[in-house]
Amino acid sequence: MKTITSETGEKIKIVVGDITKLEVDAIVNAANKTLLGGGGVDGAIHKAAGIGLLKECRTLGGCNVGQSKMTEAYQLPCKKVIHTVGPIWYGGSDNERKMLESCYDTAMQLAEEHHLKSIAFSCISTGVFGFPKAEAAQIAKRVICEHIRNGYDGEVIICCFSEDDAQYYL
Ligand code: AR6
Repeated sequence: MKTITSETGEKIKIVVGDITKLEVDAIVNAANKTLLGGGGVDGAIHKAAGIGLLKECRTLGGCNVGQSKMTEAYQLPCKKVIHTVGPIWYGGSDNERKMLESCYDTAMQLAEEHHLKSIAFSCISTGVFGFPKAEAAQIAKRVICEHIRNGYDGEVIICCFSEDDAQYYL
């Protein structure tokens, strides 16, 4: 676990590991519009949470790109799961950057509204959705720091699945 500090003093923790193991108030899932599971981190979260998560997700009616919805965490050690739908990267001219910003923004808004004191993000859109990792890292850090600057006083973690991925944030 490493802590990075922005030029204006906001702190974010960078963790390498499996997000399904984190005992935080909320983990942020990189979902798709159906919210009914998939591969990658989404698959891992559904597998670890158990069928209860899928049942609750079926009641949500999906989710638009750039938006976030919250559920219970079932058999996960965290308290809540925030599902956000990242953009698929089509080269950058399809509003992908704004949509990724909105993922981090709407997930942080949920954490604030529900007084969650710790939130751990997966690296949204940077797996099968193909968003360039370096740029995704800059967007993530910028939006998270804006929320901290504007008063979010919980702990924010970015959970990378590999040391290589973590280098983009450090
Ligand atoms: N813990 C933390 N990070 C993980 C884990 C894990 N257990 N497993 C994978 N990652 P991806 P996307 C990392 O592809 O690009 C799914 O099918 C992974 O190394 O999971 O937003 C959904 O249903 C990468 O850095 O998400 C959607 O259809 C990051 O999580 C689609 O994939 C995100 O990779 C979403 O694609």
